[in-house]
Amino acid sequence: MLANNATRRLIGGWRRTLSANAIVKRPSSTSKSTNTINLVQASRWTGRSVLALAASAGAVGFGLAAFALDRSPKRTASLFNDMTPGPRYASVKELELALKEIRQETKALGEDEDIISTDADELHAHGYSEWSTVNPDGLPVAVAYPRSTEQVSVIARICHRYHVPIIGYSGGSSLEGHFSAPYGGISVDFAYMNKIIQLNKGDMDVVVQPSIGWQDLNTQLAQMGSGLFFPIDPGPSAKIGGMIGTNCSGTNAVRYGTMKDWVINLTVVLADGTVIKTRRRPRKSSAGYNLNGIFVGSEGTLGLVTEATLKLAIVPEETSVAVVSFPTMRDAASAAAGIMQAGIPVASMEVMDDIQMRVINLGGATAPRVWKEAPTLFFKFAGTKPSVKDNISRVNGITKANGGSNFEFARDEREQKLLWSARKEVLWSMLALRKEGEEVWSTDVAVPFSRLAELIEISKKEMDEMGLFASILGHIGDGNFHESIIYNRTDPAERAKVERCVKNMVNRALDMEGTCTGEHSVGWGKKASLLREVGPDTLGVMKQIKAALDPLWIMNPGKIFDVPSER
Ligand SMILES: Cc1cc2nc3c(=O)[nH]c(=O)nc-3n(C[C@H](O)[C@H](O)[C@H](O)COP(=O)(O)OP(=O)(O)OC[C@H]3O[C@@H](n4cnc5c(N)ncnc54)[C@H](O)[C@@H]3O)c2cc1C
Ligand SMILES: *[C@@H]1O[C@H](CO)[C@@H](O)[C@H](O)[C@H]1NC(C)=O
Ligand SMILES: *[C@@H]1O[C@H](CO)[C@@H](O)[C@H](O)[C@H]1NC(C)=O
Ligand SMILES: *[C@@H]1O[C@H](CO)[C@@H](O)[C@H](O)[C@H]1NC(C)=O
Ligand SMILES: *[C@@H]1O[C@H](CO)[C@@H](O)[C@H](O)[C@H]1NC(C)=O
Repeated sequence: MLANNATRRLIGGWRRTLSANAIVKRPSSTSKSTNTINLVQASRWTGRSVLALAASAGAVGFGLAAFALDRSPKRTASLFNDMTPGPRYASVKELELALKEIRQETKALGEDEDIISTDADELHAHGYSEWSTVNPDGLPVAVAYPRSTEQVSVIARICHRYHVPIIGYSGGSSLEGHFSAPYGGISVDFAYMNKIIQLNKGDMDVVVQPSIGWQDLNTQLAQMGSGLFFPIDPGPSAKIGGMIGTNCSGTNAVRYGTMKDWVINLTVVLADGTVIKTRRRPRKSSAGYNLNGIFVGSEGTLGLVTEATLKLAIVPEETSVAVVSFPTMRDAASAAAGIMQAGIPVASMEVMDDIQMRVINLGGATAPRVWKEAPTLFFKFAGTKPSVKDNISRVNGITKANGGSNFEFARDEREQKLLWSARKEVLWSMLALRKEGEEVWSTDVAVPFSRLAELIEISKKEMDEMGLFASILGHIGDGNFHESIIYNRTDPAERAKVERCVKNMVNRALDMEGTCTGEHSVGWGKKASLLREVGPDTLGVMKQIKAALDPLWIMNPGKIFDVPSER
């Protein structure tokens, strides 16, 4: 219905824009208050840049932007040199045909609704993110809302025939421009595929569609009285499809591992519409290559996940949340290391700096409680009652030995929830502190956890010296931490400062044998860092896998690595 109305309302304006421009562009200075994108304006914005390119190339195609955007350094000689010619993307005519055919075929298969929308607001919402560090120019030209794997397959088959880019979209909470559409194309939003398909209680697994949120899944599992839950907890609004896309983790990872540990098998629609299942349902298998490992963390660049079978964990009998503050970050980090080395099975262990604690106090989520504004560890304990008690007393001992004070427990379940949600929503608390014209840059790195304190200290000092308002929080047990920086978007010098800080932090992490991203993944924003982290030969293997599964380079192009330039 959504799609139908939208289409009727906007099809006229959209067609006008489309015939003038292949890419619907946003001005680089899009203001936060501009939630809508006016398509007449859009055609004016595109006017100069895109049409100039189009004229010089003699054709209007999405791929044209590749010339301007591919700034990858020249690769040294290697096994995989120059293996892929640059892709050619659909012309406007081809795009129109593709949309028409998708509508016709889904209708012929019994779909009553128009599954495609070209509503300007929806295009904007699917190509721009307020919390992303980067927003490359360009928006999708349409959003498809499939209802089934079969419809996703139709979309992929037709897009493949016409070389139309396809970008998967689930919760939209990713942070590095993951679902942006720098080459235009169709955003595939799984909003209507949000159900539990089958709960196998005895096997402790569940088959779900990609657009079920992890919180919603847990609510439903509780309502079904399953006694089971899904422990991976990234952004509050994240959904399973995107969580597989980014190989996410969250506060529970120190105990339960990351997304890849919880995927049993996947149904994936490949670039040409072929539907595969990666495995069968047993918990282990050594049959052939690990295709789950290829699709988990592939950011929608290899295929679209339309169903996932996930392992579930037992809801613990007892949960307890505690907070301890420390004189310095280094003390907090050495307490955390002591706890890891003692093998105490904490369910979560999070670190926040003084600024982050102030942000929580300012946010007021846990009012009337006011927390000490000092480096702080948050703990979650889970298990049987006696084990929780036993583990708490050991943790208490270790934190005391490292200068920890005010070991405070959440008083009841309500306060546990409040406290944990205050932790989960810190990014939003930061966003709430912005003044007019300001943005938040949220980034993550991970290092072997013995190096974490040093990295945090240097990075914090650098940000202070540059006069930036920044907070630090992290999944300290995994050596993974986040920096959120508030900066003035309209001030190019300040943006450059932030970029320099983040780049320095990433480089420092790499020098400490770390990674440029512990859990947010690469997207559009961290491509250069990935190259620096793994080197051209390893990146070459990744590109080879991409080329094997998506030779036309239509699946989420421009993410993880650049699109090869057209030759
Ligand atoms: C407040 C906040 C807190 C956060 N905290 C954490 C945290 O603690 N840990 C953490 O890891 N992350 C965190 N994140 C980041 C984010 O929640 C994760 O990256 C999450 O995995 C994204 O899921 P999503 O459904 O929102 O994905 P989306 O943003 O919709 O998509 C992410 C990627 O997956 C692809 N994709 C989407 N659906 C599919 C599909 N069906 N098939 C194939 N590819 C698909 C997209 O194309 C895109 O590349 C946080 C974000 C916010 C806003
Ligand atoms: C996993 O495999 C089982 C058995 O083949 C199948 O029933 C189930 O649908 C599969 N799940 C997914 C998500 O492919
Ligand atoms: C996913 O994340 C885990 C933990 O960081 C890592 O071990 C794994 O290699 C990542 N990627 C895949 C595809 O599993
Ligand atoms: C945590 O508690 C459980 C149950 O009492 C116990 O078996 C385990 O040894 C404890 N771990 C530590 C390191 O205290
Ligand atoms: C942001 O920077 C612009 C340009 O330098 C300046 O005019 C504006 O006042 C700044 N805004 C804030 C909130 O500091």
